Amino acid sequence: MSAPKRLLGKVVVVTGAARGQGAAEAAALIREGAHVIATDVEPQGACRRLDVTREEDWAGLAAELRESYGQVHGLVNNAGITWRARLGDVRAEDFDRVHAVNVTGPLLGIQHLVPLMPPGSSIVNVGSSAALTGHYPVAYTASKWALRGLSKSAATELGRRGIRVNTIHPGFIETEMTASAHPAFRAANVRETPLSRTGTVDEVVPLVVFLLSDEASFITGAEIPVDGGLTAHGGVKSVSDALRPEPS
Ligand code: NAI
Repeated sequence: MSAPKRLLGKVVVVTGAARGQGAAEAAALIREGAHVIATDVEPQGACRRLDVTREEDWAGLAAELRESYGQVHGLVNNAGITWRARLGDVRAEDFDRVHAVNVTGPLLGIQHLVPLMPPGSSIVNVGSSAALTGHYPVAYTASKWALRGLSKSAATELGRRGIRVNTIHPGFIETEMTASAHPAFRAANVRETPLSRTGTVDEVVPLVVFLLSDEASFITGAEIPVDGGLTAHGGVKSVSDALRPEPS
């Protein structure tokens, strides 16, 4: 007998769902019985066009969902962009552009969809290991730390309505975003990761499904890394590695 579907009948919006983690999340949510509205600024296949930075896009989506479903039970604020300029090089316009997608986008999504959310609904914000560290791409890092603040405020504010808000922090996950990273970045990440490898979208998706489901009914305001231990050791892995006796 197949396992019961954990999101049967739930209406869930996923942003940045044309590829990478968002596409994998959308597919998994459908497998769990959800009605998924997959959205992206560059839509592909069954995706609907939605630029998370555009308030009118969110207003249009909310109006459509009100008409077609009446309710929304889940939102995955997954869309995100990186910008690999360092502190001395980053331009204010790029800093703002990254924040518009990574922070203002989730804010607008929450503002426009929460009015449609009944008690028991769940919001998942996709942070990053950069949100827990002093990662060098400063615009990306600052935006993901800001997203943590938004998530905490939203969890506090929306708890009384029975709406949960949680944040996941992926480490180095194999997607188009990381495919464009410098090989030295990949190697250094693997060196700093206790599990000694990168992760896959399939290792992120189960957590998103869980947090959207009623199995996570008493979990809100939480932040959960999915990073092979990258952010767990506080930077001392290299110390530990340096002092480990060579195997005889
Ligand atoms: P990706 O670059 O493969 O996919 C991101 C998707 O977001 C793309 O389909 C893109 O078109 C869409 N997008 C970009 N700007 C948008 C906008 N204004 N409105 C709507 N959609 C937009 O990246 P990936 O790896 O799947 O990233 C997903 C999330 O995970 C992002 O928030 C990213 O910051 C985060 N993340 C990724 C990590 C990784 O190692 N791949 C590590 C930590 C966090």
